Amino acid sequence: MKEDLVLPATREAGAGTAQEPLLTVSGLVKHFPVKGGFPIKRTVGAVQAVDGLDLTVQAGESFGLVGESGCGKSTTGRLITRLLEPTAGTITYRGRDISHATRKQLAPIRSEIQMIFQDPYSSLNPRQTVGKIISSPMEINGIDPAGGREARVRELLEIVGLNPEHYNRFPHEFSGGQRQRIGVARALALEPKLIVADEPVSALDVSIQAQVVNLLQKVQNELGIAFVFIAHDLAIVRHFSQRVAVMYLGKIIEVGDRDSIYARPRHPYTHALLSAVPEVTLAEEEAPQRERIRLAGDVPSPISPPSGCRFRTRCWKAQDKCAAEEPPLIQLSGNRAGHLTACHFPEEPSTEARDEDIVLDPALAALEEGKTEAP
Ligand SMILES: Nc1ncnc2c1ncn2[C@@H]1O[C@H](COP(=O)(O)OP(=O)(O)OP(=O)(O)O)[C@@H](O)[C@H]1O
Ligand code: SF4
Ligand SMILES: [Mg+2]
Repeated sequence: MKEDLVLPATREAGAGTAQEPLLTVSGLVKHFPVKGGFPIKRTVGAVQAVDGLDLTVQAGESFGLVGESGCGKSTTGRLITRLLEPTAGTITYRGRDISHATRKQLAPIRSEIQMIFQDPYSSLNPRQTVGKIISSPMEINGIDPAGGREARVRELLEIVGLNPEHYNRFPHEFSGGQRQRIGVARALALEPKLIVADEPVSALDVSIQAQVVNLLQKVQNELGIAFVFIAHDLAIVRHFSQRVAVMYLGKIIEVGDRDSIYARPRHPYTHALLSAVPEVTLAEEEAPQRERIRLAGDVPSPISPPSGCRFRTRCWKAQDKCAAEEPPLIQLSGNRAGHLTACHFPEEPSTEARDEDIVLDPALAALEEGKTEAP
């Protein structure tokens, strides 16, 4: 039991300094047991959803977490917000170890760490008014802002670009983008220091996505709130996050400053993800003619991930060493401080993919070469 979890009453105290990150995650592991057998079910294995994650988030910073479906992004988000209990590793928030803190011990910081979910439809109670939805975190935490809760809710509605007069409306009266704004207002109600946004725009129309991303960016800049922004799309993170981490099968395989990651990716998987980013999002002078890399095959099962480097079954550079030894996440020579890569045979610091290295998915290749049968 951690007895030292009680935080200072003032919100300003220890609000994360240049020396001390707001959030430090170290060696974080989450394994979900897999049950099998009949008639008595036993644990026969584990989904290694998150398997040894290290990351830090500074106060006010936006940290992007990117990777394909199933690589453990949401699990990471739920561990950080302590909706899940880690199997191993530590989560330190403002200098306090909260890895295994009880609900009671978490109470003082519950308000400071909030989550925004992917689906604005299912994450709002359809039977509650917008006013009730946004004010309930204040009620639960016994917070009475000066001027009253209703005034605060109206203020929050205004901040997120909704009409304060819509206080008494129900979620179904709003569009998808507006509902996500309600979710943002609810997350802001307790003046958090950290928001974990789990694919906050994936469920929205493309035309609405930019508006919500702009709102989150405004919130981050003007209110100085740190974000862990989860996405499978590197394009969105590029606009939002100062630092980006790329995940693959429960591990971070590359992390660094946005510019360093986008201009000088060293891990083959980051190259592959970047090659899928539409060029239209890049400014003219920084848009090299990237070859599109199609990753062959599916992501292996997290129940029995490949030995050594987990990306090796899909990597065009894989050699024997990749199966035998797990590559450590380290700073390669020539890279900026803080740009770490886990690969035995990293790419040259250039974004241009080389022709001979490109693995084409056979089905996609056939499609592109017009080899498919006419309908
Ligand atoms: N409660 C659970 N019990 C068992 N397995 C789980 C549980 N939650 C997640 N998993 C598994 O853990 C792995 C990581 O899942 P997670 O949801 O974190 O991935 P993700 O990166 O968020 O994917 P997506 O992009 O699809 O949201 C997946 O294989 C998933 O099936
Ligand atoms: S370690 Fe080997 S398999 Fe893994 S990404 Fe690097 S080259 Fe590919
Ligand atoms: Mg997810």
